[in-house]
Amino acid sequence: MNQSKYFIGLMSGTSMDSIDAVAINFERESTQCLGSHQHEIPKSIKKQLAKLCQSNEPSIELFGSTDIQMGVLFAEAATSLMSALGLNSKNIIAIGSHGQTIRHSPPGGSSIPFSIQIGDPNIIAAHTRCPVVADFRRADMALGGQGAPLTPAFHESFFSHPSLTRVILNIGGIANITVLSPGRSCMGFDTGPGNVLLDGWCLRHRGDPFDEGGLWGAEGTICEILLRQLKNHPYFIKSPPKSTGREAFNLNWLDQQLQINRNQIGLSPQDVQATLCKFTADSITECIKNLKLPVDEIYVCGGGARNLALIKILKTNFGNVQLHTTENLGIHPDDVEAAAFAWLAMRRINSLSGNLPSVTGASGPTVLGGFYLPY
Ligand SMILES: Nc1ncnc2c1ncn2[C@@H]1O[C@H](COP(=O)(O)OP(=O)(O)OP(=O)(O)O)[C@@H](O)[C@H]1O
Ligand SMILES: [Mg+2]
Repeated sequence: MNQSKYFIGLMSGTSMDSIDAVAINFERESTQCLGSHQHEIPKSIKKQLAKLCQSNEPSIELFGSTDIQMGVLFAEAATSLMSALGLNSKNIIAIGSHGQTIRHSPPGGSSIPFSIQIGDPNIIAAHTRCPVVADFRRADMALGGQGAPLTPAFHESFFSHPSLTRVILNIGGIANITVLSPGRSCMGFDTGPGNVLLDGWCLRHRGDPFDEGGLWGAEGTICEILLRQLKNHPYFIKSPPKSTGREAFNLNWLDQQLQINRNQIGLSPQDVQATLCKFTADSITECIKNLKLPVDEIYVCGGGARNLALIKILKTNFGNVQLHTTENLGIHPDDVEAAAFAWLAMRRINSLSGNLPSVTGASGPTVLGGFYLPY
């Protein structure tokens, strides 16, 4: 294999569970996913990231050093994948690195809109010796867009059907949907929480980073009063284009909701987890049902596809609508987000637009990302 023909996509999402790396060949009609790798983020760096995400005034020192450390980790993720697949830098056209979001303040909020992803692409280029595309969100925001979600263009390109209306549902830390309806512009937006609240509550009460299979929460009883209250979050009445993050859905917000009604004092941690699971599934469901479109099929990707309790509620909520994972469309649910950033790197290299103004609200399509050469 001495031809440059692969793109690598690197993604670390809101959950900060690991770095996903995927190698793909876009030369043929259908995507050829050569392989993928999940790269661990050391606990010490996760702590730094949590500080950067939560603190109102994180130190510039911490920001700068974590940017470099994440760059090193992203590079390691790419080189581990390359060596597992027997590839070297000459086989790689470019790496598309999303980076790690530490703050996402899109238009429509109270501050000047901005979005920050860290993981220095100069380091990734130097350590891997591959060209790198990074900083995908800010060109869209410069045109007034949300800078998110950016995966719908990839979903549209690979998962559309000529006659069926499909929804691609990514359940990461935050959940987002892409609506692919023949003859209509692609739609897409963040529906609200994915795993973020479930993970946070599980970590606090069990010490585990996530609720394996949703089994722990399934021991609890849903509290309807709390559920109704959670659904009052102001994000849900906003119209798309819209995007969100940990800034809006976090344990501080949940704690406030728990304190509002005294009836909830008697809830066990499992009851709260069961309610969060239902809340997450219902908020996704309501967004899809409110589209008022005859949805034929829903394809799930992201780590939430492994939360069987969550998937069970979604299946119940949707009744007759088919709900599968993206594995049925040829890409493993764990690989879709990283694959999208490999695809966006390919678009950047070919000077093609990567955003969809119908999704992000930008004033027009634009080429996304900066290009970093290894030498
Ligand atoms: N076996 C499992 N059971 C329950 N939940 C799981 C399981 N495996 C993964 N998850 C959930 O999936 C999450 C990771 O999903 P994913 O990597 O898609 O999210 P992310 O990193 O926030 O991605 P993105 O922001 O790109 O959508 C974990 O934090 C966890 O909540
Ligand atoms: Mg992840």
